[in-house]
Amino acid sequence: MSVCATRSEGDIAVISMNSPPVNGLGLPLRQGIAEGLAQAAKDPAIKAIVLTGTAKAFSGGADIREFNSPLMLATPNLHDLIAQIEALDKPVVAAISGVCLGGGLELALGCHYRVAVPDAQIALPEVKLGLLPGGGGTQRLPRLVGVQTALEMVVSGDMVPAAKLAGTKLFDEMVTAGDLLAGALAFARKVAGNRPLPRVRDLQLSQPDAAAFFAAARTQVAKQAGRLPAPLKCLECIEAAATKPFDEGMEVERKGFEFLVNGPESRALRHAFFGERAAAKIPDIPDDTPLRKIDSAAVIGAGTMGGGIAMNFANVGIPVRILEVKQDALDRGLAVIRKNYENQVKKGKLTQEKLDQRMALIQPTLSYADLGTADIVIEAVFEDMDVKKKVFEQLDAVMKPGAILASNTSTLDLDRIATFTQRPQDVVGLHFFSPANVMRLLEVVRGKQTAKDVMATVMQLGRKIRKLPVVAGVCDGFVGNRMINKYSAEALVLLEEGALPQQVDGAIEKLGFAMGPFRMSDLAGNDVGWYIRKRHYAEHPDMRHSLIADRICELGRYGQKTGKGWYAYQPGDRNAHPDAEVEKIILDVSKELGVTRRAIPDSEIVERLVYALVNEGARIVEEGIALRASDIDMMYLNGYGFPLHLGGPMLYADMQGLDKVVARCREFAKNPLSAPGFWEPAKLLAKLAGEGKTFN
Ligand code: 3HC
Ligand code: NAI
Repeated sequence: MSVCATRSEGDIAVISMNSPPVNGLGLPLRQGIAEGLAQAAKDPAIKAIVLTGTAKAFSGGADIREFNSPLMLATPNLHDLIAQIEALDKPVVAAISGVCLGGGLELALGCHYRVAVPDAQIALPEVKLGLLPGGGGTQRLPRLVGVQTALEMVVSGDMVPAAKLAGTKLFDEMVTAGDLLAGALAFARKVAGNRPLPRVRDLQLSQPDAAAFFAAARTQVAKQAGRLPAPLKCLECIEAAATKPFDEGMEVERKGFEFLVNGPESRALRHAFFGERAAAKIPDIPDDTPLRKIDSAAVIGAGTMGGGIAMNFANVGIPVRILEVKQDALDRGLAVIRKNYENQVKKGKLTQEKLDQRMALIQPTLSYADLGTADIVIEAVFEDMDVKKKVFEQLDAVMKPGAILASNTSTLDLDRIATFTQRPQDVVGLHFFSPANVMRLLEVVRGKQTAKDVMATVMQLGRKIRKLPVVAGVCDGFVGNRMINKYSAEALVLLEEGALPQQVDGAIEKLGFAMGPFRMSDLAGNDVGWYIRKRHYAEHPDMRHSLIADRICELGRYGQKTGKGWYAYQPGDRNAHPDAEVEKIILDVSKELGVTRRAIPDSEIVERLVYALVNEGARIVEEGIALRASDIDMMYLNGYGFPLHLGGPMLYADMQGLDKVVARCREFAKNPLSAPGFWEPAKLLAKLAGEGKTFN
């Protein structure tokens, strides 16, 4: 079927866009629209034209896959289409339902009239892709909805229901859902004879006190934008709309778009857009795999993680039982959950009524007998195999057949956990990140025997509870923590060699990380890493011990919770202060190792930390532990505070050039303090670099 069809309804031509999934304005669709317009223009029987889409989408905007390819500008491009409409002597009415986004909205703004159903979703979301609306949206939208509203829409990129904009000049008429075409045809007939035809470009726009208005707006937008250039560029365009003639404003928009579309930040954001959608796909599990029904849940353990996990279910209306061994632990856990909700109420993010509803959905219990009917149970007890064994044996005994048995373990062997049950096919890892009610990443660990329908069900459930589920295979640390262990290990080598924690943290934070490795470790608890290191020392007797980190822990410097860790903390203050005791330990260890300390440049610190992630990431892809490199990036953007504007470690490596990454790994491998093989470039990394290819 053609992506665009033109037919006559009496004296009105109807151009229908039908290019699944979202009427993205790729070249074939643009060609179809141009042909429809041309055909209608020359047919004397046609008095007006209606341009419409499907119930789901008028149009989702430019086809993002065409960006940075010749297709994007191939004629007719979006500007050509709008020019064609503006030059017509017959009115063109955009009939809008579903999403009307980006280039799709810009096309509608280029039409003479617009009618819409009230629940159509209107947005210029380009900023979310690191772009600005490049099809005249920044110049036309303010002329219709006013500067303030246009600025909010363009800078946030958020969707607004058409009903909310009904009072503006954006819509000439609102039409009841279901009657869009009939309403649009009637409207087209009504305006068929109107001349001159209205063109948005001809509307006058003024903004009183423009200089002061935009100066204030600039300060606010700059604060929100962080490292991303697009929001301020959007503002620049709206300012041009308010202060310059239309064509000059269009020139500002054109230059801004060109700058952004070729920049690394937009590449990173588009990578995140497609990466998130790719993460939902598991090659050997068809999209139409029948899902298990999940109407109720249970959580074992009401500690740091269990409470947050239970909240995720209650937040979307799924009743959840939460089990503890002792009443006081249960009471404590429930009190923390209530406090979290109360904080949201205080901030105005939740109503008291919703708080009550959610608390009512969370049912505490001390008895496994109460869990049996739950469709899924998630274990979040101590990270200890013997404890997990007892819990899974009990779950195996009480849970109904077909229930999904999940573990939140962050390091233990999921395949072993599955053997504690008679139903390994129903066991899966659901690794949440702390705080579990806030962090978006959900690492879904697929065991050797996990059933396909279990995987399909938890992936969908993950989205339902508003997480970003990404698949990982079983290995020590799965994907995210296995990589972060390498990054942390390298951070410790940097200390032995010449750096101090504040320099390492400062260098990586300057790159855009939310927190450097030492501040992060102080927040999470240094004892957690110590516990894992001790297991590694036992498993690999030849392994060199991280003397500095071990000594820090031996002194009970566990981090913020003990008032000191890699830094010192004052009561009630989370600011990290460098501490002479830590510096002494570091200098002593360097001496014991016979190291002549040297000044390490920040650029080298960044390379060593990020490439340690990249090299392990490459091994993980090579081993099939991650399905694709972009899955790793999605994990790091959503669970590990990797800066969004860099797109994740694997895209960062791509942008640096894999040949450069390999060359640097080989240089770092000469460091006598590095563990043997640590910097040996992963086979996949070396192969791609050799072929001049990239991960993504
Ligand atoms: N171009 C190409 N593909 C697109 C697309 C677009 N604009 N929008 C969505 N898709 C694809 C997705 O990649 C996905 O493909 P897949 O099935 O192969 O993974 C498929 O459409 C369905 O997308 P979703 O899974 O996101 O479906 P939803 O129903 O949840 O959401 C949506 C639909 C709200 C349209 C959402 O996809 C979206 O927000 N898309 C991006 C819209 C956007 O940013 N538009 C602006 C583009 S830039 C532009 O117009 C520049 C102009 O100013 C010059
Ligand atoms: P926690 O110590 O805060 O909570 C564990 C809870 O489990 C305690 O309340 C304890 O009373 C309860 N518990 C212990 N044995 C039990 C049993 N047999 N039956 C029922 N309840 C029992 O621990 P936390 O941090 O919540 O960790 C739980 C799990 O989540 C661990 O496997 C951990 O590795 C994992 N995890 C932890 C993260 C973190 O940042 N804390 C992040 C991701 C995963």
